[in-house]
Amino acid sequence: MRYLGNKTKLVPFLLETVDRFQETPGVACDPFAGTASVSAALKEKGWQVHAGDLMASSYALQVARVQLDAHPRYPASLLPAAARNGKREIGYRALLEGLAELDDPRHGFISEHYTSDGAAGREHGRMYFSPENGRKIDRVRTRIERWTRGSSHSEAAAQLLIATLIEAADRVANTTGVYASFVKTMQPNALRPLELRPIEPTRRRKDAAACSAFRGPAARLLQSIGPVDLVYLDPPYNGRQYPAYYHIPELLALGWATPPEIRGKTGLIPDEAQRSDWCRKHRAPDALREVLEAADGRHILFSYNDEGHLDRAAIEGALRERGLPDTYEFHARPYRRYRSDANGPQRSYLRDDVREHLHYVRCA
Ligand SMILES: C[S@@+](CC[C@H](N)C(=O)[O-])C[C@H]1O[C@@H](n2cnc3c(N)ncnc32)[C@H](O)[C@@H]1O
Repeated sequence: MRYLGNKTKLVPFLLETVDRFQETPGVACDPFAGTASVSAALKEKGWQVHAGDLMASSYALQVARVQLDAHPRYPASLLPAAARNGKREIGYRALLEGLAELDDPRHGFISEHYTSDGAAGREHGRMYFSPENGRKIDRVRTRIERWTRGSSHSEAAAQLLIATLIEAADRVANTTGVYASFVKTMQPNALRPLELRPIEPTRRRKDAAACSAFRGPAARLLQSIGPVDLVYLDPPYNGRQYPAYYHIPELLALGWATPPEIRGKTGLIPDEAQRSDWCRKHRAPDALREVLEAADGRHILFSYNDEGHLDRAAIEGALRERGLPDTYEFHARPYRRYRSDANGPQRSYLRDDVREHLHYVRCA
C-alpha cells in the first residue's frame, strides 16, 4: 500500500543490519508498524514479531501480514444465499470472488460521502472513488459489518477481509497516494474496477512462536510485552498526522455502524485518539524519552529521517543514554522521497532524495 514512511524499499538494508548483530532470529517488537512491511520481513526471516500502531487500518494490515499464518475459512453466510452453492463454509479466495460479484445499486456511506454520486459528496465536490467503486466498497464493507455484529465471527478473519478491502480501495483511490486531497479529474487507476486481490499471510518458520498485532500507543505495547531481543522504532518524523492523511482507510477499518461525524472538504473523521506527539515538534523529545523508557530490547534500532523534528545529535544522545554507549552506531541511506504532492504554497521540497538515518544501540 502507498504509505508515508513505508519501509519496503529499506527492508534489505534493515535486515542486513539486524543480521550483523544477531545471527539467530529471536523476538522483535515493531510498535510503529504502519503497513507492517518490516514486521512481515522479520517474520519471514524467522523472528517472532509483536507489531503495533495507533491506526486501526495498520492493525488490519498487521493481522493480515503478521499475526495470521494461513488463510482462515469463512462462513458461506457472508455471501447472499444464491451465491453459497449449498456450502456452509468457504475459503478466503472463493469468498473474495463471491464478494466481487455482489450487486446492489444503493448508496452506502462511502458512495454517499466520498464520490460525486452522493448528495454529500457532490456538495463538497469529493471525488475519492468512481461512483461504481464507491458502491462496491460499500457492499463489501457492509457484508463484513453484518458478520462481525454477530457473536460467532473470528476477529482475525474479519481483519484480513478489512485489510484486503483497504488495499483494493487504495489501488483505485483518485488520489496521488495520500487521502489529504483528491484529484479533481478521474485518474486512470480510479476508473479501473475495484479488485479484491488476496493478501498472502507471511509464512511462520517451523520453530518460531506466534506473532501478534496491536492497536494502540507504542509505549503501551512495549510495556506489555516486556523484554525482547529487538525493538525496531520507526515513528513519524514531521507534522503530517497519519489520521488526516489516511482517514478513508481508517474509516474502512472502523466501519460506520455508528456513522462518524465527518468534516471539511475531504470528509475527515474524528481522530483525536490517533494524533501523535511525534508529529508535534515541541512534544517529540518527550515522546522519544517515553518510548525509550518502555523499550526493553537487547538491541534497539531507530529509523528516522534527516529532515525530522528531532535532530541527529538528540537521538544519538538519547540512545547512548538508554543502552551501552560504546555500542552506538549510525548509518545513513539515501532514498528517493515519496512525493504525494508537488511543491506548493504549503510545502517546498528542496531535494528529491533524502537520507534515512538508522541509529543502533545494544542494551544488554
Ligand atoms: C513512519 S510510519 C511507519 C511505517 C512502517 N515502518 C512501514 O514500513 O509501513 C509511522 C507510524 O507510526 C504510527 N504512530 C504514530 N504515533 C504513534 C504512537 N505513539 N504509537 C504507535 N504508533 C504511532 C503512525 O500511525 C504510522 O503508521
